[in-house]
Amino acid sequence: MRLRNIPGADEAIANSPYCIQNPTEHRGAWRQFLGDAPIHIEIGMGKGQFLFQLATLHPEISYIGIERYTSVLLRAVQKMEEQPLPNLHFLCIDAATITEIFAPDEIDRIYLNFSDPWPKDRHAKRRLTSSVYLERYNQILTAEGRLEFKTDNLDLFTFSLEEMEASPYWDLVASTRDLHHNEEMNEGNVMTEYEEKFSSLGNPICKLVATRHI
Ligand SMILES: C[S@@+](CC[C@H](N)C(=O)[O-])C[C@H]1O[C@@H](n2cnc3c(N)ncnc32)[C@H](O)[C@@H]1O
Repeated sequence: MRLRNIPGADEAIANSPYCIQNPTEHRGAWRQFLGDAPIHIEIGMGKGQFLFQLATLHPEISYIGIERYTSVLLRAVQKMEEQPLPNLHFLCIDAATITEIFAPDEIDRIYLNFSDPWPKDRHAKRRLTSSVYLERYNQILTAEGRLEFKTDNLDLFTFSLEEMEASPYWDLVASTRDLHHNEEMNEGNVMTEYEEKFSSLGNPICKLVATRHI
């Protein structure tokens, strides 16, 4: 998702109380900063539909939404201005820097929803489920930490399963190529904006859940 450049978006994000500025300053102290609650993050949150729903359903969890484009994040910030949620914050960063922002054992759950597929082989390392990223996630999650990934892109899903299985850091807990018809995995499912869009076109939704291999 990359909306047209929106004049003033950079400034609005830099001045928003909902976007955490200078996030590296909180490395190792996120729980003190946000309150002593488990921290769940979505990487590539887009406009934040998924996190607004989760944060409303689970006030006992601190949620952080990560999005690299100010033009996209601005939509989430505008929504927060209308309906503020105390347990939801945003970070405008590239996920490649995630280990500079979070220390080991700081994050309890990572959500990846409809991540950019980067279909060309030469761009495989940019996929948010590539081994490069899986190693980064392993560094910031708690021992019981968990990763949940949804997509409608079959090639990206197959790639992600292969990367997960080849990785020494992860145990695959569950996976499906038709989430909405898998009663067990779909229980309590919160739909993302892209999930609504693609499932309404008839695309099956794939999901995997993995935990750290300790
Ligand atoms: C296809 S959209 C999906 C949005 C939302 N998760 C959903 O399911 O509706 C993917 C989003 O991830 C963001 N994104 C992609 N790569 C990223 C990265 N390396 N760091 C931060 N955000 C990223 C994009 O800018 C885009 O807004």
